[in-house]
Amino acid sequence: MSTSDLAVVILAAGKGTRLKSNLAKVLHRSGGRPLIEHVIRACQSLKAREIVVVIGHQAAEVTAAIAVSGVRTVLQQPQRGTGHAMLVTRRAIPPSVKFAILLPGDAPLIRTETLAALLRAHKETGAAATILSAELENPAGYGRIVRGDDGSVSAIVEDSALAQDQRGIREINSSIYCFSLDKLWPCLASLRPQNVHKELYLTDAIALLRQKGENVQAVMAADADEVLGCNTRADLAAVDVVFRRRKRAAIMDAGVTIELPETVLIDPEVIVGADTRIEPCVQLLGKTRIGAACTIRTGSVLSDAVLEENVLVKPHSIVVSSHLSRGTQVGPFAHLRDGARLEKNARVGNFVEVKKSVLGEDVKSMHLSYLGDARIGAGTNIGAGTITCNYDGVNKNPTTIGKRVFIGSNSALVAPVRVGDGAYVAAGSTITNNVPPDALGIGRGPQVNKPGWAAARRRAMAAAAKPTKPGSRKKSKSAVSRRKPRKAGRRR
Ligand code: UD1
Ligand code: CA
Repeated sequence: MSTSDLAVVILAAGKGTRLKSNLAKVLHRSGGRPLIEHVIRACQSLKAREIVVVIGHQAAEVTAAIAVSGVRTVLQQPQRGTGHAMLVTRRAIPPSVKFAILLPGDAPLIRTETLAALLRAHKETGAAATILSAELENPAGYGRIVRGDDGSVSAIVEDSALAQDQRGIREINSSIYCFSLDKLWPCLASLRPQNVHKELYLTDAIALLRQKGENVQAVMAADADEVLGCNTRADLAAVDVVFRRRKRAAIMDAGVTIELPETVLIDPEVIVGADTRIEPCVQLLGKTRIGAACTIRTGSVLSDAVLEENVLVKPHSIVVSSHLSRGTQVGPFAHLRDGARLEKNARVGNFVEVKKSVLGEDVKSMHLSYLGDARIGAGTNIGAGTITCNYDGVNKNPTTIGKRVFIGSNSALVAPVRVGDGAYVAAGSTITNNVPPDALGIGRGPQVNKPGWAAARRRAMAAAAKPTKPGSRKKSKSAVSRRKPRKAGRRR
C-alpha cells in the first residue's frame, strides 16, 4: 500500500494534570521507554510522508527527548484542546497529503499493523473519518461511540457529558483516527468550545461531519489493550504490565525459559539466545544481549550487559555495562560495572566487585575482593579479600597482573603497580613496588612468636580472680582487673 498520501499527527502538547507530575505526560515511562517514543516507533514503520508531533507543555524537554527520531514538531501554545491541536498542524502538512492518522502521544501500546489496518479500512469505505474504537470492561473516563440505527457513528460523547441512557455504552473512542483531510479542515475551523473545559474537542468534529452528511466509520481494535491511554499513575502501571508481558512472550518464543515470568522485567531492546534459562525476579535492562544456553539466576540485575554463550550468573549479581565471555561464571552477590570484561571461563565469586578491569581466561577471584582499573593475565588466581588500591585521592591508577600469578589472600595492591608473570604475592601483603616475574613479593611486618605468653596470662588472671581476705573482695577485684599479666605484659 502506498503511504505517500499519508501524514501522521501525534498529539503530545497536554500537561497530564492527572499524573500530578512536573514531568510532561508523554515523557513518563512505561514498558521501558517514554510514552512518546513507543508511539513514534509504531508510526515510523508506516512510512508516511510526514510525522508531526504537536508539542506545548514542556516543549523543550519533549523536543529534546524525540530529537533522535527526526520527526517534525509543531508548537501548540496555548493548549486549547485536541481539535485545536490538530488545527495547528495544517501548515506542516503538505497539500498533496490526502489522509491523516491522528493519535494521542499517551496511548503507547498501539501497533503499526493496527494503524495500517485502520488506514486500509478508511480507504476501502471512502469515509470522511474512521475511528479506532474498542470495547472495554471499564470504559469510565473515555469518550463513548454513539451509533445510529444503521450502525454508523453519529457522535462521540465525552465521559463527563454522557446522558443517563448512554452510560451503558462500552465501546470507547481510542482517540486514534484516520481522516480525509479535505473533509476535516472545514469542520475543525467551525469547532466551538462548548464544554466544561472550554476546549475545542476533536470529538465534536465527528458530529459536525455527520451533520454535513459525511460517512463516519468506527473499526474495533482486535486487542482492546492496544488503545489503553495513560492518564494516571495506575494507567502507566497497567500499560507497563502489557508491555512487559509482550516482551516476555517474544523472548520465550525465541526459545528462552522464564520461570515465574510475571516476576521478570525485560526492557524492549534486550536480546536473549535460545536455551537460556531465566529464574524468577530477574531484571534485564537497557541494551543487554545474552547469548545461548546461559543461566541467569534469581535476583540478578543486568543492565547494558553483554553475555556470550554458556554464562552462569548466580543469584543476586549486578552486571552493568560489562562483558562476560563464553563459559564465565559470576556471583552469588557479585558486582561488575563500568566496562568490566571477563575472558573465557573466568570466574568471579561472592562479594567481588570488578570495575573497568579485564580478567583474562580462567582467572579466578572467588571471594570478597575489589578489582578496579586492573588487567589480569590468564590463569591468575586472586586470593580472598584482595584489593586493588586504585585511587590515591586524586587519580585512578592501574594495576597490571601477569599470567599464572598467585595473589595471596587479603593483599592490597597499591596502584600504579605491576606483578610479573608467574609471580607470587604473599598473603596479607601491601604491595607498593612492582613484583618481578616469577618472584615472591612479601610486604608485611615479620611475625613474632612469644613462647608461653598465653599460658602465663591465663595464670595471672586466675590468681587475680581469687579473693584474698574476706571483706576486702570489692577493693581487690578492681585493683587486679587493671593489672597486666606478669612476664607477658610488656608491649613492643
Ligand atoms: C481523549 C478523547 C476521548 C478518548 C480519549 C482516549 C477528546 C476531547 N477526548 O480524552 O474521547 O476516549 O482521549 O484516550 O479528544 N492534547 C494536545 N493538546 C491539547 C489537548 C490535548 O496535544 O490542547 C493531547 C494530550 O497531550 C494527549 C492527547 O491530546 O496526548 C489526548 O488528550 P487528553 O487530555 O489525554 O484526552 P482525554 O481526556 O484522554
Ligand atoms: Ca488521554
